[in-house]
Amino acid sequence: MTIRDPAAEDEAGWRRLWAGYLAFYDETLPDAVTAATWARILDPASSVFARLAERDGALVGMTVNVLHDGTWSTAPICYLEDLFVAPEARGGGIGRALIADLVDRGKARGWSRLYCHTRAGNAQARRLYERFVAADDFCRYRLVL
Ligand SMILES: CC(C)(COP(=O)(O)OP(=O)(O)OC[C@H]1O[C@@H](n2cnc3c(N)ncnc32)[C@H](O)[C@@H]1OP(=O)(O)O)[C@@H](O)C(=O)NCCC(=O)NCCS
Repeated sequence: MTIRDPAAEDEAGWRRLWAGYLAFYDETLPDAVTAATWARILDPASSVFARLAERDGALVGMTVNVLHDGTWSTAPICYLEDLFVAPEARGGGIGRALIADLVDRGKARGWSRLYCHTRAGNAQARRLYERFVAADDFCRYRLVL
């Protein structure tokens, strides 16, 4: 299993992972949004980036992330927005490796923080995240505009 940057020819494989991720969240998005997200992932000028896990020539996992500025540090902050491992590839350490990849990258590039959210009831994701750090006590308030 390798973790690498995406390339244009990964679109079909990435879209399969993305569709699985949206289905997991029971979410549907207009194709224009998915297409724009993929375009941002490939655009080196965009703050959105992805990392892909590949095994035996197939894409089996992804992170999609946003690198942003903050007010409490001059160093970039990474928001891990989307993490997904294909159901048939779960339980083998790919999720853990995808997060470790971001940790390594952040240390090498001088990011100040890496963070993510998940649903309180998502036991698998929470167990995985807690291998890296305990959850804090912040609550999320989100206005849809
Ligand atoms: C959460 C997810 C990314 C984990 O990926 P994975 O490749 O299976 O994870 P790993 O094999 O690296 O497992 C790492 C840890 O996750 C937890 N975990 C993985 N599979 C689990 C399962 N079936 N039951 C309970 N915990 C599990 C464990 O803590 C495991 O570590 P351990 O074996 O040392 O206890 C994957 O289940 C997934 O894509 N889920 C749907 C989308 C999602 O929830 N995304 C994250 C929130 S946005």
